[in-house]
Amino acid sequence: MPNAYISGTGFYLPPRVVTNDDLKTEYGIDTSDEWIFPRTGIKERRYADEGVYASDLALPAAEEAIKRAGIDKKDLDMIILATLSPDHHFPGTGVYLQKKLGLCEGENATFVPALDVRNQCSGFLYSMAVAAGMVQSGALRHVLVVGVEIHSAALDFTTRGRTVTSLFGDGAGAVVVSATDEDRGIRCWKLGADGRYADALSLKIWDISKKPYLPQNDEGVGQMMPEMMFPQMDGKLVFKNAVQRMIEVMLKVAEEQKIGVDDVDLFLFHQANQRINEFIQKQIGAPEDKFVNNIERYGNTTAATLPILLAESERNGKLQPGMKVALVAFGSGFTWGCVLIDW
Ligand code: ACO
Repeated sequence: MPNAYISGTGFYLPPRVVTNDDLKTEYGIDTSDEWIFPRTGIKERRYADEGVYASDLALPAAEEAIKRAGIDKKDLDMIILATLSPDHHFPGTGVYLQKKLGLCEGENATFVPALDVRNQCSGFLYSMAVAAGMVQSGALRHVLVVGVEIHSAALDFTTRGRTVTSLFGDGAGAVVVSATDEDRGIRCWKLGADGRYADALSLKIWDISKKPYLPQNDEGVGQMMPEMMFPQMDGKLVFKNAVQRMIEVMLKVAEEQKIGVDDVDLFLFHQANQRINEFIQKQIGAPEDKFVNNIERYGNTTAATLPILLAESERNGKLQPGMKVALVAFGSGFTWGCVLIDW
């Protein structure tokens, strides 16, 4: 049975920087850097321009990951794409990315399968688990895994939505998961979900139990209420469960691998709130320099967070060959996961 390892990483952030103060001055939201930064660790985030799709952000990230994996895009056996902000309701964004990668035409027409994953902030780890299973079973050799979000199109840019709006940003990250006979790669993954809290962090823009599924007024025109159009979040409940589940899932992975949490060389945590990560770091007693964060610059980019963090850590030398790396995430669903990699 081959091992599955990450052969290449890539990321792309849209160039437009929006600072905490910009939310006030440009958008007129009653907020400030003094409120946002101490509570979240966020200073700024990126927003894609009008007309840009999630698949557009995903493309350069995917191309970089493929290049760094040292393979040709024709060598890909599958695309897995995680997002909560797909280009359209259906089809999945993976097929748009496949087309933009040029895998449907000419000599590159491989028509590889494209799977979309809808697990929000845990989406990348759920996708990694699927990719690892496919590769370790011997079925596939190279799987492209992408996490991408365009949050800026679906945030409430009024003071009413300030709690959620200040947290999120746009971006894309990608990895190629490849087969190897070397003794390294993805050692273990654990995933979890608790549907009792499905509504605690949700965007219920339509209700499929209603006919029609979007609300209409007497003229038959859609009548969207703000609570349907924008994400709703019970922030304190999210915070509490994130801390509990992220610690729990890491300990389960450590137990299964017969290692201590202190054997982990680098922790890459989902970037939802710097305070969540600092709280966990203190709880598990790990030194600060084993953690990498980028929430200050990008906010919460949901499914894109971990592949961006991985790619940046590789580029800046924090992530070195031979390191034991724990990727941990928690998000809407609630869903969570941990993937342990010998890099
Ligand atoms: N600027 C100024 N004031 C604000 C802002 C803002 N951006 N946001 C909220 N406030 C105000 C509120 O209106 C409220 O005012 P009031 O007391 O006059 O009513 C006050 O600040 C406190 O608001 P709370 O919502 O109670 O603030 P809380 O202490 O819970 O902090 C926070 C909010 C930072 C969002 C916190 O709950 C948190 O980080 N939770 C975790 C969130 C998270 O991780 N979400 C992403 C999950 S990942 C995913 O899957 C997408």
